[in-house]
Amino acid sequence: MSSLSAVISGTGMSVPARVVTNHDLERMVDTSDEWITARTGIKERRIAGRDEGVSEHGARAARFALEAAAVPPEDVDLVILATVTPDMPIPASSCVIQDQLGCRRAWAFDMQAGCSGFIYAQSVAKQFLLSGRARHVLVIGAELLSKYLDWSDRGTCVIFADGAGATLMSQGTLPRGVLASAMHADGSMADYICMPGGGSKQPPTADTVRDHLHFIKMRGNETFKIAVRSLEEVSREVLASAGLAPDDVDWFIPHQANRRIIDAVGERLGIPAERSYVNIDRFGNTSAASIPIALDEAVRSGRVASGDRILMAAFGAGLTWAASVVRW
Ligand code: ACO
Repeated sequence: MSSLSAVISGTGMSVPARVVTNHDLERMVDTSDEWITARTGIKERRIAGRDEGVSEHGARAARFALEAAAVPPEDVDLVILATVTPDMPIPASSCVIQDQLGCRRAWAFDMQAGCSGFIYAQSVAKQFLLSGRARHVLVIGAELLSKYLDWSDRGTCVIFADGAGATLMSQGTLPRGVLASAMHADGSMADYICMPGGGSKQPPTADTVRDHLHFIKMRGNETFKIAVRSLEEVSREVLASAGLAPDDVDWFIPHQANRRIIDAVGERLGIPAERSYVNIDRFGNTSAASIPIALDEAVRSGRVASGDRILMAAFGAGLTWAASVVRW
């Protein structure tokens, strides 16, 4: 007898049209193409225009995912948007997306788990699909990080970027679907990646603007070391709970935080570089959007075959870290 599972039935992505290269950044801060390439692997990234909001890219990516799955918007039961950069604090941008798509029956909420948001959201969707409370759930990761960047801080503005990726998750049957998920958080390092101003603790005032509290701040070097260790550990944990070894992984689709992090984690796990999907050179670090963007590219380019085992792993603000294994 086949048993119920949560499968990815469609993928999509959307990025702003404007390309900003490392050479463009050389004209804005004291940096160089050589430094950014060597230390992060990034060559260029997409940056949204003044009038663009996260919801339009999230909705566009989700529309592609629905089309790929051939599921009409009315059949969607739930929309989850993982983001740290909603259109505005109230209402949730997932509700704006629900309306734009015409998912009339769906309920909707935003989830904030930094760069791990997509995997957290995937795991929540899985629970509703397996419990029978939903047949189709849109899981979207969308960020316009450029709107919260201090363009004079070379430690952050060369890394973070904009984009959206989406998956439609649907009820299916094993052996396909999400085989295992693992999520972690440690708020004792909340200040490693944060934006101190604009919330209830330090609401926007002339002083918070003057003090640059509305920008993303990151203790990059310390975060880097914890990221490598945590990504390796959570990957091993999720593979073990799926009864798999690193050798069984057909595709490693990690959060595109930094090329050196991806390479170091792949090496520690013993996953050959050709089985890691990397697109950070073209898109930079798009936080919760990076895994679904990479997944959409990997799927649409024909790299992912039916039955493939995909390891996804992310690390980010919170601190949070998470991983999942999906059988395609
Ligand atoms: N251009 C040129 N020089 C630079 C730049 C730059 N853009 N940025 C920093 N430097 C300099 C520093 O000033 C320092 O100079 P010094 O030695 O004279 O003091 C030197 O380069 C080394 O600085 P580090 O900060 O140690 O550089 P590092 O190799 O750690 O790279 C980076 C910085 C790219 C930010 C890296 O630490 C990183 O990727 N960190 C992890 C990011 C991450 O994974 N975040 C979590 C996910 S994001 C989220 O959740 C939203």
